[in-house]
Amino acid sequence: MLTDTFGRRFYYLRLSITDVCNFRCNYCLPDGYQCQHNRDFLSTDEISRLMRAFAQLGTEKIRITGGEPSLRKDLPDIIAAAKQTPGIKKVAITTNGYKLPEHLPSWLDAGIDAINISIDSLDPRQFQSITGHNKLDTIMRGIDQALETSDVTIKVNSVLMRQHNAGELNQFLTWLKNKPVTLRFIELMETGDNKAFFNAQHVSASNYKTELMLGGWRPMIREKSAGPAQEFYHPDYLGKVGLIMPYSKDFCSSCNRLRISSLGKLHLCLFAEQGLDIRAFLQSDDVEPLKQQLVALLGQKAESHYLHENLTGATTQLAMLGG
Ligand code: 5AD
Ligand code: SF4
Repeated sequence: MLTDTFGRRFYYLRLSITDVCNFRCNYCLPDGYQCQHNRDFLSTDEISRLMRAFAQLGTEKIRITGGEPSLRKDLPDIIAAAKQTPGIKKVAITTNGYKLPEHLPSWLDAGIDAINISIDSLDPRQFQSITGHNKLDTIMRGIDQALETSDVTIKVNSVLMRQHNAGELNQFLTWLKNKPVTLRFIELMETGDNKAFFNAQHVSASNYKTELMLGGWRPMIREKSAGPAQEFYHPDYLGKVGLIMPYSKDFCSSCNRLRISSLGKLHLCLFAEQGLDIRAFLQSDDVEPLKQQLVALLGQKAESHYLHENLTGATTQLAMLGG
């Protein structure tokens, strides 16, 4: 079992399969993806070995992230490989959903259990101004299609920004009334690249919490492989609401996830370090040395991120690690 020196257990692996993205979210890649050099992303074989090692060390849930993971043509194969890994109970993906209606059938065929989609505004023009793309309608169509044709879990991520969407709570709640999805409001996080943007746009989600509680929303109980969101339900709504508040006290104490970058580096924290290269261990079908290396590296995991001290570590934007 993967356990760190603070007694935290790691059930959950976030696996980035590419850092390329076709969107230009203002808080992440405002100038679009800048291709620096030929990217040699992990192959399906390397990914399969990695997943096998993690599963043998207790990982139960894998989330495939990017960049935008659907820019890889072999995404359905990767989903299927994750699904076929003994010990993995849940396979999820985080996507911007730009071709969701078109991609959905192949993801469902491959066995996907859960899809997280980023929607920062329900206003098509605001959506376009945030992401650089007029795709809100397509994404919404994809969500309806998923809800009608499958029992896949749908979550929607919305990054809170003072001037772009902070006034949209009621619009989002109205949408949730008849949609069995979980909508998570994420506090904007400071990265190496977005300092000025962060200072202008960061808002705490605590006001949202107060409004939800006043509106009759009630806190839910957490599962062990759950994310860091505080979730709320309401008897009159099919949808649920989550708040992700990385700047809140004790956010890191329930950390249950590890990250792997698309180039095969282990990141012990979203904001910790440059990443620890484990690619050499992915070249053999014998995963024992890889498992030993993972257990050894976990000893280096720190107790908390340093966002409170305004340190963003080596993370320039979240496309490099998929959040
Ligand atoms: N702060 C908060 N959330 C972010 N995301 C990307 N960059 C940031 C940031 N700086 C979100 C995306 C996506 C998820 C993977 O991470 O909107 O929903
Ligand atoms: Fe792409 Fe996601 Fe970054 Fe937006 S937040 S630019 S969709 S990686």
